[in-house]
Amino acid sequence: MSTKQKQRARGFFQEHTLYPSMVVAKAASPINKNGFTSPSSTLNLDKGDPLVFGKYWKKKSEECMVVIKGCELMSYLSDTSNVCWYMLPELKDAIERLHHVVRNAVTKDKYIVIGTGTTQLFMAALFALSPSMTTSHPINVVSATPYYSEYKDQLDLFCSERFQWGGDAGEYDKNETYIEVVNYPNNPDGTIKEPMVKSIVEGKLVHDLAYYWPHYTPITHQANHDVMLFTLSKCTGHAGSRIGWAIVKDIEVAKKMVMFVQMSSIGVAKESQTRAAKIMGVICDGYQKFESIEPDQLFFEYCKNILRERWEKLRRSIELRKVFTVAKYPKAYCNFANESFEALPAFVWLKCEEGIENAENYLGKLKIRGRGGVRFGAGSKHVRLSMIGTDDEFTELIKRLSNAKY
Ligand SMILES: Cc1ncc(COP(=O)(O)O)c(C=O)c1O
Repeated sequence: MSTKQKQRARGFFQEHTLYPSMVVAKAASPINKNGFTSPSSTLNLDKGDPLVFGKYWKKKSEECMVVIKGCELMSYLSDTSNVCWYMLPELKDAIERLHHVVRNAVTKDKYIVIGTGTTQLFMAALFALSPSMTTSHPINVVSATPYYSEYKDQLDLFCSERFQWGGDAGEYDKNETYIEVVNYPNNPDGTIKEPMVKSIVEGKLVHDLAYYWPHYTPITHQANHDVMLFTLSKCTGHAGSRIGWAIVKDIEVAKKMVMFVQMSSIGVAKESQTRAAKIMGVICDGYQKFESIEPDQLFFEYCKNILRERWEKLRRSIELRKVFTVAKYPKAYCNFANESFEALPAFVWLKCEEGIENAENYLGKLKIRGRGGVRFGAGSKHVRLSMIGTDDEFTELIKRLSNAKY
């Protein structure tokens, strides 16, 4: 490891000692059998564990059942005629079908690469897009502030010689090529972002579309970018299956991403792939054979209603206390739902009023753990809280916020 890399690694560990919320296992308080922290313990809304959709999947338990025999799914290989040779054909079909139903992304004439979550595919994309010859220094990876905190954290941890964290895309002014990560709707603030770098040098783009699904945001167009990342974690809520997929325009980029996954995990667990395909199939059946299901029982409608109810309650609580403010999202027409609605993001991005300098610390006093704005490249007046935890967690959040006083 070079001295520079060592310094970056040291920086990472120092920062994460300062922000212990990163260590989810340690941060968790005693959890009772409902999965909810007791009233005297800290309510952990730092993490984005998507358990909110569990209610829906409970109703569909039987339909989503997958049985795998002892002799099945044993090989590393799945379909050697595909660039992504470890992807089961049924998962590829299910991904294409889901995008066809939702019309949120173009898959035609593109390559699908799957990974162990988008977390792995993000690194795979950077590996594929960065120059293969080691140049004098690593390529900068930038994203507009407030950016998803894990982008920086991952890069700082891995200390690659090929790429490094380059900070806020809006501030990038070097005459050197770069990779910009565009995340829409954006985690943490729920906004629809565009590429931000204004450089004379051409850069490469990675679009992280983890939340571009119609329960979170209006589907206004079919995304058609060079590299698009999606994840089962935030689409259906099955984060534990660790399935992510990339839709890639250029075959050479797709091949390099596959090589990265091959070198880091020799593919993706087939048990997870089978389950993901089944779950996507159940969602699509609902829309394509809808005579058998009530419209409000369709996956995206059902989940959007839960999120809408939560957002209404949260906004009421915030407005009443006047300690925090939260942005209003513009209404947009959703081509999928055929109606206009305001975004219902997976996280709330709170800003504290004048007189309070540190939003994360303020919430800490109410025994609510959020992720402070600094982790996202923003100031300490902001804090992010998950809106996608269990019902018990959400009810407790509203209760604890009622103790906020200015
Ligand atoms: C914007 C964004 N991208 C990627 C991920 C990672 O998802 P995965 O569970 O597929 O690794 C998350 C998870 O919270 C996210 O919010």
